[in-house]
Order: sequence, then structure tokens, then C-alpha cells
Amino acid sequence: MTKITFIEPQGAKVEIDVINGWTLMQAATSHGVEGIEAECGGSCACATCHCYVEGEQATRLPAPSNDELEMLDNVAAERLPNSRLGCQIRVTPYLEGLVVRMPEAQS
Ligand code: FES
Repeated sequence: MTKITFIEPQGAKVEIDVINGWTLMQAATSHGVEGIEAECGGSCACATCHCYVEGEQATRLPAPSNDELEMLDNVAAERLPNSRLGCQIRVTPYLEGLVVRMPEAQS
């Protein structure tokens, strides 16, 4: 398990002990975190699992694939340098303490 903190659009913090190997999207949707839709179920085809990764652990994330970068062009909220798709990030112990902020809109 790896502790990840999600920040919902209204500012509420939700700390989740995530099963290693799950994606951030799976962790958020299975715990009812507000601010994520994940319409395509994790196929990198909808951009409604957009999130902002924060904290020093964000520097440890693998770089986004070309598919993820292309899909990030379609996000509903502002795209920022730390924008990622939650379904493309697998949780590992190396990410302990990562903070994931959900945008104000997904569609
Ligand atoms: S769930 Fe659709 S792109 Fe991530």
C-alpha cells in the first residue's frame, strides 16, 4: 500500500492507502473521490481522469507517453505543466506521499 492524498475540487483532502499496481484513477474512483469521471475506464481515450500531480514525489513519475500527451490536449480544465491522466500512472511505493489535485471540471 502507498499513501496518496487526493484533493477534491472544493478543497477536501482524501487520503487513500492505494494498492501498489493500481492506477491513480482506479484509486480515486473506487473511493468516491470527487472531480474524476474516467469515462473510458482507463484506455487513455477520454481525458476525464485529468489531475494535477503535486509535491516532491511528482518529480519521480515516469514521463507521459505520446498517447497521454495527445489526450491531455483535450482536457476540460486548464492544462498545466503538472497535468497528467490518472489512468496512466501506476502507484508504486516510490510515490508514497504523492498529492493529486482534481481539476474543477472534467467535461
Ligand atoms: S480514464 Fe479515460 S483517459 Fe483516463
